[in-house]
Amino acid sequence: MANLFTPTKVGAYTLAHRVVLAPMTRLRTIQPGDIPSPMMADFYGQRASEGGLEIIEGVSISVTARSYLGAASFYHDGQIAGWEAIAKAVHAKGGRVFMQLIHGGRQSHVEMTGGVDPVAPSVVPFEGVALTKDGFVPASPHRALDIEEIPGIIEEFRAAAQRAFDAGFDGVELHGANGYLVDQFIQDGTNKRTDAYGGSLENRVRFLREAVEALISVWGADRVGVRISPSGEWGGISDSNPEATFSYVATVLDEYKIAYLHVIEPRIKGDDTLHEGHEPVATHYLRPHFSGTIIAAGGFDGDSAEAIVTSGDADLVAFGRHFSSNPDLPYRLKHGLPLTPYVRAAFWGGDEKHYSDFPAYQVEPESVVPEAEPVV
Ligand SMILES: Cc1cc2nc3c(=O)[nH]c(=O)nc-3n(C[C@H](O)[C@H](O)[C@H](O)COP(=O)(O)O)c2cc1C
Repeated sequence: MANLFTPTKVGAYTLAHRVVLAPMTRLRTIQPGDIPSPMMADFYGQRASEGGLEIIEGVSISVTARSYLGAASFYHDGQIAGWEAIAKAVHAKGGRVFMQLIHGGRQSHVEMTGGVDPVAPSVVPFEGVALTKDGFVPASPHRALDIEEIPGIIEEFRAAAQRAFDAGFDGVELHGANGYLVDQFIQDGTNKRTDAYGGSLENRVRFLREAVEALISVWGADRVGVRISPSGEWGGISDSNPEATFSYVATVLDEYKIAYLHVIEPRIKGDDTLHEGHEPVATHYLRPHFSGTIIAAGGFDGDSAEAIVTSGDADLVAFGRHFSSNPDLPYRLKHGLPLTPYVRAAFWGGDEKHYSDFPAYQVEPESVVPEAEPVV
């Protein structure tokens, strides 16, 4: 692990290592009101480390942006104290924390949006799901956004970014991945518009640009990241030429000098591995188009994370599932310690069990070795 545990810069911040907590929606807010819960503060506090970076699960920017009952959001004052407690828990351990901001677009249901139809760039048949009090249910039929409505959504992104700022976070990440609204605009399988937000690549990326500019207006570019999932399949998303589309997206984002580009490898579909054993490919073709910091995500272990950082295709690696069950993941990877298996059944909702009750690695008293020695 010669490279994974060396300092690096992420925008305004210098980090001590390159093992990042990937955003994971775990559906543990308090209802009603999507109030961030004390167990969420425990979860994020446990996974914080000196000079480490965490990215908080997708946080919906408004009622109509919501997709999943129990998921995080930040649009009313009753949520401020909960979010402040989470930022504080990470800072207490010397970590940095960015909040991922999301609009679900067509991946939603009228019960989650306050009774109105979910919105999308265009109406395209969609067989995805949303989560309501009845469990995972088919998404409601969506409608295409009027061009006059778009500034209002961009303003919601800005307002949520301001709330994250006021609550003491270190930055924000725009969720441009996994088939949610920003991604629905980018990819031509879901964007059939004929106005200034559809058609050409430049037009399809306009919504992303405006959302990024809104976040930058609050935070400055060096505290804003963007997540993308080239060739991702979650949310029924598709593009006729993903490599051209996302190379262009990377080029556009490079202009803004944002803190980082966060890339999910296409071997992953949402919360699962789709193509076991596939090499990372997206970061490799995007690297020449983006001169700033790249975070790679999706299917990494310690060795493959070290390899991609060594290759130069990525500067940091975000871990989701392994971090869910190993609160001290950076320490374990650094020292070659065994990992606790994750528990899929606890991913989507529940209580503290298999969420905030995973212990840090405990060395058996008889096998304690001096600090400097690696434990194998
Ligand atoms: C339970 C769960 C919830 C997730 N929620 C989000 C999310 O809110 N935002 C996001 O961008 N990705 C989300 N992801 C995807 C992860 O960030 C990550 O890309 C994925 O788990 C692959 O990385 P891994 O192989 O290290 O687990 C989620 C994954 C899991 C397992």
